[in-house]
Amino acid sequence: MSAVLPALQNLDPELRSGIIECIEHWKDQEGNLIMILHEIQNRHGFVPREASLLLSGETGVPLARIYEVLTFYHYFRLVAQGKHNITVCNGTACYLKGAGRLLAELESRLGIKDNQTTEDRLIHLETVRCVGCCGLSPVVVVDKKTVGKVFPTDMAGIIEGIRNREEKEEDEE
Ligand code: FES
Repeated sequence: MSAVLPALQNLDPELRSGIIECIEHWKDQEGNLIMILHEIQNRHGFVPREASLLLSGETGVPLARIYEVLTFYHYFRLVAQGKHNITVCNGTACYLKGAGRLLAELESRLGIKDNQTTEDRLIHLETVRCVGCCGLSPVVVVDKKTVGKVFPTDMAGIIEGIRNREEKEEDEE
């Protein structure tokens, strides 16, 4: 497991051993690149850069090729997601109805930018192109639940809703 191992040293040990296991499992099999990446994504919810470095070192596949695959398929995530997800639709209809203002409000309230996760890893914020309900624009999707015709002033309540649910879950444990 050689010279590229130091690349993984900053990773959580559990995550690290999981990634090493995936590579070991698939590395001699045909079509292994996509299979390894899928397994890493499925298990960990994202494909850390360190995993790509290790994969490149172990399989000889250039890092650029790995990133070509990772960025081609929307399925793959390059950063860890939060426990909860807020997606702002930035397709044409939503854009025209003020998606930018929704995003700005969320960014300011959460203290993060698009495609980032809050420090406590509770909320991930992202934008997508058209979620298919333009009649409800502007739209945000909160943990797979679509919320339409929203205003920037609704964003505080959405965040609070997530935080309240989280506290309730903690109390019940
Ligand atoms: S553009 Fe937002 S739902 Fe279609």
